[in-house]
Amino acid sequence: MGFWKKTVKEYDLHGKQVVVRADYNVPIDESGTITDDYRITQSLPTLQYLLEQACSIVIISHMGRPKDEHDTKYSLEPVAKRLAEKFNREVKFAHDCVGKDAKQKVNDLQPGDILLLENLRFHKEEEANNNSFAKQLAEHGEVFVQDGFGVVHRAHASTDAITKHLPSVAGLLLEREAGTIADGMDDPARPLMTIIGGAKVSDKIDVLRRFVEHADVVAIGGAMANVFLQARGMPTGNSKLSEDDLPLAREILETAAKRSSESDFIFYLPQDAVVATEITPRAQTRIVDWGSHVFADIESYPSKPDTSAIEVGPDDMILDIGPYSGAFIAGAMQLCKTVIWNGAMGVTEVKSLQGPVGPFSHGTDTIVRACGGEFGNRPHSIVGGGDTVGYLQSTNTLDHFSHVSTGGGASLELMSGNQLPGIESLWDKE
Ligand code: 3PG
Repeated sequence: MGFWKKTVKEYDLHGKQVVVRADYNVPIDESGTITDDYRITQSLPTLQYLLEQACSIVIISHMGRPKDEHDTKYSLEPVAKRLAEKFNREVKFAHDCVGKDAKQKVNDLQPGDILLLENLRFHKEEEANNNSFAKQLAEHGEVFVQDGFGVVHRAHASTDAITKHLPSVAGLLLEREAGTIADGMDDPARPLMTIIGGAKVSDKIDVLRRFVEHADVVAIGGAMANVFLQARGMPTGNSKLSEDDLPLAREILETAAKRSSESDFIFYLPQDAVVATEITPRAQTRIVDWGSHVFADIESYPSKPDTSAIEVGPDDMILDIGPYSGAFIAGAMQLCKTVIWNGAMGVTEVKSLQGPVGPFSHGTDTIVRACGGEFGNRPHSIVGGGDTVGYLQSTNTLDHFSHVSTGGGASLELMSGNQLPGIESLWDKE
């Protein structure tokens, strides 16, 4: 199917002033340092292309969810600096996205200049999709380029209303993201395996519904697996669990069971886990194997293993999938041609004392290594963005995947088969 909207390469941009919507909503720590610049680096090819067309570039973006313009920790100024370092050229910055100063800086631009404007969400009109605010943004250029894939699921002034005022085309990042994800969903090389982790079933219910109908294998990990386990009557101790999600989990389990009984479909829930009573790098961890798969040691075999080895205790928290489950998932990946992955298998935020792969990251790490071809097969692999990307950056493994999305919510919406307002509002190819 490919990408269905007109792109920067299909519109004459030579010498024009272009308004580019980027998604520079990047994590910044208390000292003002950007801790993950994946979204910035992924925006460079479009900017480079526009420079080759002798364009002057006005970039607009949001950052976080500020209350108002005084919420200065959400300033985009650090992004302008990082962009300048990446490009090794000056990136100008305006302290507002509309108004006198912004207008002046926009009017002073010469071909080859780049100007980043301050956070759009300092104005409530942005999220209200306000038309006169959008018109003011549109006055900054002659063409609008949407390249902020991470935000195209929002109908905001800078993603929707602005397209009523300017010729509107897609940037190269948006084209690659939407084209790759849509192709992976609509016409994947099969068998197709999807691995879904993260916190809540309700956050991913649309995509779960679609995958359970559409994929050949669905494997579940992360805190959302706890809800499924509980729906099957398994004790999950003190684990993070959203009880409200139980009816949704039951619905998915029912659909999955029906499909498995009718076809070669596998719905896989973890059969063992890493548990601990605290979430720290030094936590004392234990493997609980409720399927009793790996207790063939001389001490316990063939007698019944100790309860603590097969049951999650009342104080235990499930913090990662266990080695048996990791091996099962990696094994299934050896048989699949396409793997779509969204959400970590455990608490990857906790680093070890020696490096980025912490005590609850081994399940996630196994998937990363399987996608990189370490166990033989190297499937076509698509990673939905969100927090996983920070982990991949910290472990230097982005190149293990065919495509790592810059958009968390946007990639989920697209995978669910929903239309995204920030894409739909752009010009069609013909
Ligand atoms: C994201 O990080 O998912 C995007 O930048 C969108 O941000 P939002 O969820 O605050 O709209």
